[in-house]
Amino acid sequence: MTQFDRNGSCCCCSTAVEPNRRGFTGSLIAWLLGVVALIPGIGSGLAAMLSPLASKSRGGLRVRLTSLDNLPADGTPRKFPVVAEKINAWTTSREPVGAVYLRKTGDHQVEALHVVCPHAGCSVEYKPAEGGRKAQFFCPCHLANFSLSGKRLDAVSPSPRDMDSLEVEIAENGDVWVVFQNFQLGIASKTPMA
Ligand code: FES
Repeated sequence: MTQFDRNGSCCCCSTAVEPNRRGFTGSLIAWLLGVVALIPGIGSGLAAMLSPLASKSRGGLRVRLTSLDNLPADGTPRKFPVVAEKINAWTTSREPVGAVYLRKTGDHQVEALHVVCPHAGCSVEYKPAEGGRKAQFFCPCHLANFSLSGKRLDAVSPSPRDMDSLEVEIAENGDVWVVFQNFQLGIASKTPMA
C-alpha cells in the first residue's frame, strides 16, 4: 500500500499531488462537497465536477513525480506511478491513476512518456540493451517496439502511433512535474480521453 510522508509525498517515489490541491483548497472543496451533497440531485454532479480525477478530462492532472537527482544521468528511463487525490462528499483519498516513464535527456531536461501502449492499452515495458540491440520499450501484447523517445521501431507496427508524450515542467529546486492525462487507444492521432 502506498504511504505518504507529512508533505504528501509518496515514501518510495516522491509522487505528490500539486500542493495547491492540498491544504486550504482541499479542505474548502471537501466542505463544499459535503454541503452540496445534502441537496438531492445536485451533490453527486458537483462532486464529479470538482474532483481532481474528473479534471483529467480538462487538460490533465499536474503531479510532482520525483526530482532530477532521482533520474539516472545516462538516460535510462524510470517508471513512476501517478497518484491522484480523490474527494468524495466527506473524505479525501489517494488512488493510483496511471504511470509514466521519465528519462533524463540533458542536465535540466526530462522526457515523459505514458506507459500505456496506444494500440490497445497494455503496459509498455522497458528492455535494457542486449547483444548489440539498443535499449528500447516493448509492448508484450502484440509485440510493438518503441525507441526510448517513444518512436515506433517496427516497419509495420501494431501501434497506430508513437508512445504518448506528456508535458514536463522542472521547478527551480529540481522537482519534476508532469501533466498527466490519458489518450484514446487504437487511433493514429493523439487525442485526449473525453
Ligand atoms: S497493446 Fe501494445 S501492441 Fe497491442
